Amino acid sequence: MQGAEPKYQFICASAVLFPAFGMSKIGFAQKPNLIKFAPNIYRHNDMETVVSGIRPTGNLHLGNYYGAVTSFVKMQEEYNCLFFIADWHSLTTHPKPENIQSSVRTILAEYLACGIDPEKATIYIQSDVPETIELYLYLNMNTYIGELGRVTTFKEKARKQPDNVNAGLFTYPTLMAADILQHKAVKVPVGKDQEQNMEMARKCARRFNNIYGVEFFPEPQNFHYSQQAIKIPGLDGSGKMGKSEGNCIYLFEDAKTITKKVMRAVTDAGPQAPNSPKPEVIQNLFTLMEIASTADTYKYFDEKWNDCTLRYGDMKKQLAEDIVKTLSPIRERILEYSNNTELLDSIARRGAEKARESAAKTLKEVRQIIGFRTY
Ligand code: TRP
Repeated sequence: MQGAEPKYQFICASAVLFPAFGMSKIGFAQKPNLIKFAPNIYRHNDMETVVSGIRPTGNLHLGNYYGAVTSFVKMQEEYNCLFFIADWHSLTTHPKPENIQSSVRTILAEYLACGIDPEKATIYIQSDVPETIELYLYLNMNTYIGELGRVTTFKEKARKQPDNVNAGLFTYPTLMAADILQHKAVKVPVGKDQEQNMEMARKCARRFNNIYGVEFFPEPQNFHYSQQAIKIPGLDGSGKMGKSEGNCIYLFEDAKTITKKVMRAVTDAGPQAPNSPKPEVIQNLFTLMEIASTADTYKYFDEKWNDCTLRYGDMKKQLAEDIVKTLSPIRERILEYSNNTELLDSIARRGAEKARESAAKTLKEVRQIIGFRTY
């Protein structure tokens, strides 16, 4: 791994002003606020760095696939990508030890099956990179309980689990900031619900730079390809496809299950007048079709809606067929990967090596900046 090496320039003012410091064995010549870092080029092999984390909370569904994974697959061609499974973050809800490995492997197998390629992107498990925790500690020292307490996701979780409002939950944003900043990532593909956490990550970067008078951490930005994060509707006529909503199509599901689910999707009595606007439940079906089917198919059914000849049964049958077409090769690969623990482990091990190399380089510099010895 050949990153652009930041240039150090030590201004040894302390040796002049405070000769005793300058000569001391513990090296005050490297007094942190006297280290000046040349503006960093946040690139690796001339590509910007992208980081994203996925909590291992169950199987991936169509919403995850179109909302996130397809852009990860695209990004790995254009950026230095690091995708990791956030198993430390999942500890806020105290999972059972015997479930940790299996849920991590499930996500790993499903991401690989979707086309995330370990030759192109670094895929790793968060808990395999202990450097993250050291940075987390440093960032916590510069983060105030007032600002952490104002994070909406914290407040929501605290309301949902009032008997388990632990410090890990409280400092969730600083762990996330450490995940990102340890690789000096500039782009982070996350959903809208993560915007406040991202703002905290930027604050951590900015504050660290200010405190130590360095231009060290870049401020990471939320990223998605389209103007807005795409929202994949559920099958129950309501808003978003989501695990907790129970309105999902999972990537591992077979053709029969998928077809049954799509055929049961909520609809209404049918188009009443030509060219009328679509009610939300019907619009949802069309949105799914726009994403999963070809433009011609979409146009065909849209015209049928407009001239009031649309039969929902036909449309759903077509939609189910198109979803199955996309998902059946993915399902096959999920099964293959899931049965090959050895391969999964070796991919995770290789990913951890690369991620540790990247994080260790940053941490070495961070220790110097703060005034610690490096090891
Ligand atoms: N908080 C993210 C979520 O719930 C997961 C996550 C953890 C993450 N660390 C991250 C995402 C770093 C992007 C970058 O979805």
